[in-house]
Amino acid sequence: MDIRLLQPSDIPHVQHANITNLPENYFMKYYLYHALSWPQLSYVAVDVSRPKKTPYDYPRIVGYVLAKMEEDPPDGVQHGHITSLSVMRTHRRLGIAEKLMRQSQKAMVETFGAQYVSLHVRVSNNAALRLYRDTLGFKNEKIEAKYYADGEDAYSMKLDLGFIR
Ligand code: ACO
Repeated sequence: MDIRLLQPSDIPHVQHANITNLPENYFMKYYLYHALSWPQLSYVAVDVSRPKKTPYDYPRIVGYVLAKMEEDPPDGVQHGHITSLSVMRTHRRLGIAEKLMRQSQKAMVETFGAQYVSLHVRVSNNAALRLYRDTLGFKNEKIEAKYYADGEDAYSMKLDLGFIR
């Protein structure tokens, strides 16, 4: 497995993974906005065990983290935000999501001096909650009622990145 920075040419494959794994989907230009504005923060996991058959064969993207810096932080504190994270079913529980998140968090601190990272997650998403809370150490900030289009609430979560500095 190769964890590397997202390149603009990966975007159609990342979009495919996102549509497969999550109901929150985005236009191509939103991915591009992340890749061009904060090229250091978004990563992909590529399954390199499958050999390329032709030079035009596309990379097999099995996971991604799409991340950004908050442009106008309401609290005035520089911080990153995880827009979206997912790993294909065939490649789950191998530590890929944890690695993607840690790479992005490190880059947020080293490149942009982020003090913390934030995200939203569905209150019913037990797998992601376990990853964020237990593995990565995120804390619940608050519940945002009806945050999602289908009316489900979100936990707004935060991780202080002081341990990286
Ligand atoms: N059940 C319980 N704990 C879990 C689960 C699960 N299904 N999945 C991960 N964890 C926890 C475990 O503690 C795990 O460590 P362990 O395997 O040693 O027990 C730890 O998280 C690390 O797991 P990873 O292997 O790194 O996680 P994975 O690569 O499988 O990806 C993810 C986890 C991203 C949540 C995956 O299940 C997925 O893509 N789900 C669908 C999309 C999704 O829900 N994305 C998050 C939405 S929120 C957002 O995008 C900001």
